[in-house]
Amino acid sequence: MSTFLVRRSGPILTDRTHITVPGDKSISHRSAMFASLAEGRSRITGFLESEDCISTVNAMRSLGIPIKQSGMGILVIEGRGGEFTAPEGDVDCGNSGTTMRLISGILAAQPFRSRLTGDSSLSKRPMGRVINPLSEMGAKFTPEGEQGRPPLVIDGGPLCPISYEMPVASAQVKSAILLAGLFAEGETSVIEPAACRDHTERMLQEYGVTLELGEADADGRRRIALPGPQQLRARDFAVPGDISSAAFWLVAASAKEGSDITIEGVGLNPTRTGILTVLQRMGARLEITPVDPNAAEPQGRIRVIGGKLHGTVIGGAEIPNVIDELPVLAVAGALAEGRTIIRDAKELRVKETDRIAAVAENLRAMGVPVTETEDGMIIGGGQPLHGARLQCFGDHRIAMAFAIAGLFAEGETVIEHVECVATSYPTFGATLDAVLEH
Ligand code: S3P
Repeated sequence: MSTFLVRRSGPILTDRTHITVPGDKSISHRSAMFASLAEGRSRITGFLESEDCISTVNAMRSLGIPIKQSGMGILVIEGRGGEFTAPEGDVDCGNSGTTMRLISGILAAQPFRSRLTGDSSLSKRPMGRVINPLSEMGAKFTPEGEQGRPPLVIDGGPLCPISYEMPVASAQVKSAILLAGLFAEGETSVIEPAACRDHTERMLQEYGVTLELGEADADGRRRIALPGPQQLRARDFAVPGDISSAAFWLVAASAKEGSDITIEGVGLNPTRTGILTVLQRMGARLEITPVDPNAAEPQGRIRVIGGKLHGTVIGGAEIPNVIDELPVLAVAGALAEGRTIIRDAKELRVKETDRIAAVAENLRAMGVPVTETEDGMIIGGGQPLHGARLQCFGDHRIAMAFAIAGLFAEGETVIEHVECVATSYPTFGATLDAVLEH
């Protein structure tokens, strides 16, 4: 069993600990899939070589796409213009919901049967959200788990376009439908109930796809349409650093007085920068310098100067923008003076684990008063944290969020079974050790 062993650290300073973050997970998945769909060779740099993204690479390989690794984070992908071959065995999606849901959109259109499997956590996650719209388009899904859960057997075939209003603001669902729409004759459209990450829209356009992007209405509802069928054109793509990985250090440095860190090359896509807005609202001192604002995926530098945080309310339309950062934002809430309320975040209950229950349990174990609600929690911030022996429930973001909490606690914090961190941030432990050395 691997563990994180954490104690209170001093200020975090770039001079002492150079913090870099690996490639963005969402963008890495898409780069491998879109380059596989395109006709010709694409070179991807900055690719996140984590277990989740490798699941996507292996899935594309099992569908007949040659993918070569030609250096750290560099992939050379020989796309076959939307042609795939039937996989010989199961397509193993590991722990990765993004792999399973997005690939479902591609496989829905293929003239063969495939079977998608996942680990015990992925096997508990809801897939009805992609099965319903993709079945409406004409694919046949046979979920082998209860209530539409994996493994999923997909009998793909010719698809018809649909116009689909998504019941949840999910970028994975939106992406699955748009990918299926690439193969359908006519216009496929999705309406998102609130803005959720738009990497698929931005990157499909980079790969030569025409999309119609509607304006968001006052509630944030937006229509995205894709006239099909369409073919992607190969192109090289540089994946920026993952703001969701940077989030752990942004919170740690913001809440630790005397800290001063700068992280370079962080993705600054506005559908992902909610963490910065929330931290600023909590009083964090951030300097954000866009370096490449006009790129399909903007990126830049973030400097954080440590200080004191105060509580806030996180809810409504900003939730999809901070969904993956909520565990570490809950830790920020515990470190802040006053109360922090997280609401409208029911989706947290169907992530790699029930993140509301997991965060509440671990914060309480560290001495933080927390009231769990159906769609969030109320955190009594500003109490001293004490070290504890914690579970991460096989969830990478819970493991990393509580390693950050441990940097502020009296005594020792041990987090068990942290192998899962390799799904999104394999070098997190090394950076944590470097921070603890000072
Ligand atoms: C992701 C979308 C989000 C996010 C996940 C990655 C993506 O999930 O939580 O980590 O890459 O599209 P949902 O679409 O379920 O909200």
